Amino acid sequence: MNRAVLQKEFNKDEIDILKNDTEILSSFFENKNDGSIVYVLENLGRLENGDSKEPLIKLLNNKNENIRLLAIKNLAKIGDVSLLQIFLKFAQQDESTEVRRESVSGIGRLRNEKAIPALIKLLSDKDPKVVMQAIRGLLVFSKNDSVKQELKKLISHPNELIKEVIGKEINGINYSSNSAGKHDEFPNYLKNLVVQGDVVETLGHVPSESVHLTFTSPPYYNARDYSIYQSYEEYLNFLEKVFKEVHRVTKEGRFFILNTSPIIIPRISRAHSSKRYPIPYDIHPILVKMGWEFVDDIVWVKPEASVKNRNAGFLQHRKPLGYKPNAVSEMIMVYRKKTDKLIDWNISQYSWDKVKRSKVADKYETTNIWHIGPTFDKVHSAVFPIELCNRVIKYYSFVDDLIFDPFAGSGTLGLAAVNLDRHFFLTEKEPKYVNRMKEDLIRGSSLFSSKNNQPNFVDIQNFISLTKQSI
Ligand SMILES: C[S@@+](CC[C@H](N)C(=O)[O-])C[C@H]1O[C@@H](n2cnc3c(N)ncnc32)[C@H](O)[C@@H]1O
Repeated sequence: MNRAVLQKEFNKDEIDILKNDTEILSSFFENKNDGSIVYVLENLGRLENGDSKEPLIKLLNNKNENIRLLAIKNLAKIGDVSLLQIFLKFAQQDESTEVRRESVSGIGRLRNEKAIPALIKLLSDKDPKVVMQAIRGLLVFSKNDSVKQELKKLISHPNELIKEVIGKEINGINYSSNSAGKHDEFPNYLKNLVVQGDVVETLGHVPSESVHLTFTSPPYYNARDYSIYQSYEEYLNFLEKVFKEVHRVTKEGRFFILNTSPIIIPRISRAHSSKRYPIPYDIHPILVKMGWEFVDDIVWVKPEASVKNRNAGFLQHRKPLGYKPNAVSEMIMVYRKKTDKLIDWNISQYSWDKVKRSKVADKYETTNIWHIGPTFDKVHSAVFPIELCNRVIKYYSFVDDLIFDPFAGSGTLGLAAVNLDRHFFLTEKEPKYVNRMKEDLIRGSSLFSSKNNQPNFVDIQNFISLTKQSI
């Protein structure tokens, strides 16, 4: 039976009749089909009448897991401590994890000290979801010394989420910053600054927690002439060093967005095979370990005609295992600097007016598949399309923020930042690309509203002097 029919058959008055008469409710549960029972259970509302418990308790032996789950939910709404042993029984014995978890939630909702021993017993359940629910129930009594001691033991629990909650709630561990600076501000000398030099050396002179958002595409492993490393390991070690520094200079709870994709090193002859390096997958665990929290994976899709055709051979022979798809996608990996503060905390650091000015207008991208054509450039062989930068900046920063690209190349991110009323800080080691940036940014100088906003190009020595002057 579909929902519209059920809705008609069991309107509010019908449900009230069932609710207020234990016998009618019992016979309803005994004689109706599962669909009708589920519908009524979902719409029963708060149960005032203590007598209604019995028919619900009987449903706990129903074969249908969803019915048992809803029966527990409705019993939990009553908040009757006499149900404690029933909840405990189903928390320990039901074959469905969902029913078990809901039963623990029922115990927690009693908010009664009598429930403490049952909740403590459930802390040793083998299902982390059940344990987490028991912790939730016990946190209400965390001032009670024996409860605190029991919860403390879980700091060595194998489950990472349980360890995190205990660390935060009981042991007071947090990832918060000690920065004295205001969240929406940053050192003035970083405003619209391009440093020509090595990124690691440059970042060594940047104060912690200066940057609001980093978006970058690192040099690809031996894919282009600017990225020659002795080995893949050396390459990953280099990126690790850079991203650790990016982590340090990023403000609490702010985002780091990384564009990478697997690359292929062509075979040296027909007697060898080519090798594919899964850069996004190898870099991900390194980022998490240094304190970046994974938030989202966005896939940037380019038109097939714009990418290298790997299909020619397969097109002819059509033999399995020789299939080679054209790689039209790149990863846009979204991370947040780990903190115990919620996103709302970050937003609350800005004035009402700034939040309003930063709001994302209609027609924004609602999926994690972004179709954006590539941009080709006469000087740099791997530039960001401006549309890609625009989206990242609009979705992950506020106006007047400082946007950083450690591998700036042609500086597309800088241009997009200024267009969107943000400021940029860029590092790039190749003088020819820095010159290219100068052309673009100076040509677009009308974008810079005031004298104090003008782009500033320095080498590493001048950068060090700038940082010293500001002290
Ligand atoms: C993939 S490109 C970035 C392109 C850029 N997203 C754009 O829109 O033009 C990587 C850049 O990193 C630069 N680079 C490589 N190693 C560097 C280092 N150690 N310090 C600073 N820049 C570096 C390269 O010169 C290259 O321009």
